[in-house]
Amino acid sequence: MAAIPRLPEGFVWGAATSAFQIEGAATEDGRGRSIWDTFTATPGKVRDGHTAATACDHYHRYEADVALLQRLGVDAYRFSIAWPRIQPDGTGPANEPGLAFYDRLVDALLAAGIAPMPTLFHWDLPQALEDRGGWLDRDTAHRFAEYTAIVAARLADRVPHWITLNEPFEHMALGYALGQHAPGHTYLLDALPAAHHQLLAHGLATAALRAAGAPHVMLTNSYTPAIPYSGSAADTEAARAYDTLHRRVFTDPVLLGTYPDLGSFGLDGALPFIKDGDLAAINQPLDGLGVNYYNPTRVTAPEPGQTPLPFELAEFEHVNTTDFGWPVIPSGLTQTLLDLTADYGDALPPLWVTENGCSYGTGPDADGRIRDQARIDYLEAHVKAVAAAVDQGADVRGYLVWSLLDNFEWAEGYHQRFGLVHVDFETQERTPKDSFDRYAALIRDQRR
Ligand code: FCB
Repeated sequence: MAAIPRLPEGFVWGAATSAFQIEGAATEDGRGRSIWDTFTATPGKVRDGHTAATACDHYHRYEADVALLQRLGVDAYRFSIAWPRIQPDGTGPANEPGLAFYDRLVDALLAAGIAPMPTLFHWDLPQALEDRGGWLDRDTAHRFAEYTAIVAARLADRVPHWITLNEPFEHMALGYALGQHAPGHTYLLDALPAAHHQLLAHGLATAALRAAGAPHVMLTNSYTPAIPYSGSAADTEAARAYDTLHRRVFTDPVLLGTYPDLGSFGLDGALPFIKDGDLAAINQPLDGLGVNYYNPTRVTAPEPGQTPLPFELAEFEHVNTTDFGWPVIPSGLTQTLLDLTADYGDALPPLWVTENGCSYGTGPDADGRIRDQARIDYLEAHVKAVAAAVDQGADVRGYLVWSLLDNFEWAEGYHQRFGLVHVDFETQERTPKDSFDRYAALIRDQRR
């Protein structure tokens, strides 16, 4: 077993999931329809037409899943709350059975000695709000604050860590710019209001959480170092532009209260959807910044006339990839954490790696055991990458593996398995993989 450097005292180890990807029970207890229910029901959107109607059936099996978390030995569990369970149409009074589910889950976690870390929005917008414009509509930010206040009034007395949004860049890019995720729009740069309104939602929700006494509030972004394809000035400039769009648009307003210069995107003047007071509302003090990291991004200058964007993406050569085709480059996590530390300085709150993991389809051998050595290697290398960043001055407080369970991986359906626990989607049988035991041992070793 490779030695893993010791992380600082009190470092939080965890695992993560999200509601739509695991819960199932899509029509139970008054749950409303989400944009992902619509998207999965649309032919051609999800690989092989997979839906999440049952997923991991976690809604009915949450007690067994909490027992798995306890066996894993984690300090914290990051899950998400499905807005359509709380407000089926995205507005109005709470749907009591929906709130009661998360109440039971929180109590089960606390009884198991595990800190609940809910994310309030992990991409499953109520369809009724999408019908009114979704995140392109400014009012959605106010609806989100209202929903947050309902949840916080019920749970803030027991929940130690709150996350407002998951990966607003990915939701804007995949959902509103490129159409690969729900709600499936292909607006390219015209998707930018979806960035701003999510950030405004984050700010307003943070205020609502504080008002309800929430002790610790974070935003989770996806981060990826933008690596220039070559040393050329054009590639360097393209990487800078990509970093602006992916990282700085979603971090500068939150931590600095300003947007970065978007001149390289042809956006020179004032953006009409940014109203007076918005940046102050977005720039709320935070207790932590969630970092989801999977891989770096290689960026090249665009071919003239090929794209309206000031960059193109390229593949890394000679690197291992996961089943998703994502390059395995652990040093990118060290770089991500150190770049944030250097670039935001005193404005940066403590960092939390709120997702990191890999897709490998490894299934059971004849003896039933799942020997997912590639996932063990991935996790060990990335935990070491976190330790290296801490060693070089990054203030990192926690690390949560994506994911506890194999689950519904968005447009890939059940084809990408990220779990420490294998799920047989026919029988719902859960089988901890070798990586589960390795992660449990790693956590035990760290506490010794
Ligand atoms: C992240 C998402 C998460 C999961 C992983 C693989 O972008 O937040 O739901 O799909 O990717």
